[in-house]
Amino acid sequence: MQSLIVSGGKKLQGEVPLQGAKNSALPIMAAAYLCEGECILHNCPKLTDIYAASRILNYIGKKCCFSGNTVIISRENCGGSCRNCIPENYTQEMRSSIIFLGALLGKHKSCVMSYPGGCELGPRPIDMHLTGLRKMGVDIREEHGHIICNVPKCIHGAKISLNFPSVGTTENIMIAAVLAEGETIINNAAREPEICDLADFLRSCGAKIKGDGESRIIIQGVEKLCGCEYTIMPDRIAGATYLAAVAGTGGEIVLQNACISHIEPFLSYLEQTGCSIYTPDNDKIFLRSGAKLKAIKNCVRTMPHPGFPTDAQAILMAALAKSDGVTVFEENIFGCRYRHIDALMKLGADIRTSGKTAVINGVPQLYGATVEATDLRSGAAMVIAALMAEGDSEITEICHIDRGYEDIEFYFQKLGADIKRV
Ligand code: EPZ
Repeated sequence: MQSLIVSGGKKLQGEVPLQGAKNSALPIMAAAYLCEGECILHNCPKLTDIYAASRILNYIGKKCCFSGNTVIISRENCGGSCRNCIPENYTQEMRSSIIFLGALLGKHKSCVMSYPGGCELGPRPIDMHLTGLRKMGVDIREEHGHIICNVPKCIHGAKISLNFPSVGTTENIMIAAVLAEGETIINNAAREPEICDLADFLRSCGAKIKGDGESRIIIQGVEKLCGCEYTIMPDRIAGATYLAAVAGTGGEIVLQNACISHIEPFLSYLEQTGCSIYTPDNDKIFLRSGAKLKAIKNCVRTMPHPGFPTDAQAILMAALAKSDGVTVFEENIFGCRYRHIDALMKLGADIRTSGKTAVINGVPQLYGATVEATDLRSGAAMVIAALMAEGDSEITEICHIDRGYEDIEFYFQKLGADIKRV
């Protein structure tokens, strides 16, 4: 297994071009399964989750090939061998493989897929996905870890009200609805930017969708989807990661290819730490950080977009490890998203947790240590803390980090960090 070796304590300075968004590329690749034409996706990040999605697409019948940050998804199915099932070895590889269920149902009258595993954030229930699809006319049985679906007549539009604005559920229903008979309305839909990117991609292929980005999305089913050439939006959480790292170490960064509005919910908190943040034009973010960050007075509550993103919780907490006071976090989206705290404390941070609340009290210094990444964003938080720490650190199990960050050591080296992969 690979590790990152970090020699911390240095200020960071430089420019980083922002990678494409993992959480947009994945549902878009699933949706491409429904297209009768070729799909060319630009700005696709080179990540293990993306390759896992391409293996699923290849298995169910759509050939994927990569050229740099472009992925080309074939028009025809590989020699007509279109499978309507996804076995466990594929669904376990990528926790969010459930987003392929809507795609399979858009093309097949029946399909089977194994449950995606619970992941480091706790169980990943899919009850809302299944409830929504059942309302669209899908008979679904769950047996021995498999989801067995049959569409006795046809997938039809439905009025679906989500108990919670679930990102994956919204995406799955959108994908299943674009070729369904009639109109589908999703109430209390997720409003994340990735939802709008998926809708823009689907509209480029001929889908009829409106209301994405708001709580009510309306989809009119169409006969077929053509292919298209599309550019994936920038990754707002990867952007937050690089900004938080420079905030924590001190220094300056110009984040290129950013989309300010996507990252605004995070920037509004980062500004409260005393960093200077300028957005000279609409795709660049300039951040300068002084010696010591200020603690954030209000509680940092993770909420669905446009609230503070749960994916940035560990990242901001790490940046505040040496701040001048106490910041309170409240994790409201996932039941188990404090797995980075043990590692941050091993590096010298002072953090207390109670249920969904975590209280971080800034300390004068962090010290290098060996820590193990447990999930994607926790791993990124450990990198940030290691860059802020005096001395050498080793971060192991970095396969978790590679799921969501393209060449993370390369971009931190561009900022002057002493970091290498072994
Ligand atoms: C997406 O996960 C993202 N993943 C996550 O990013 C992100 O943290 C999350 O949205 C919230 O923004 C991808 O897009 C691939 P949800 P998803 O459905 O769709 C519960 C990262 O680090 N729930 O909005 O799985 C669920 O357990 C990853 O890039 C149900 O109870 O998130 C969670 O508590 C991590 N039943 C809450 O809803 C369901 O049927 C939000 O989940 C579905 C979800």
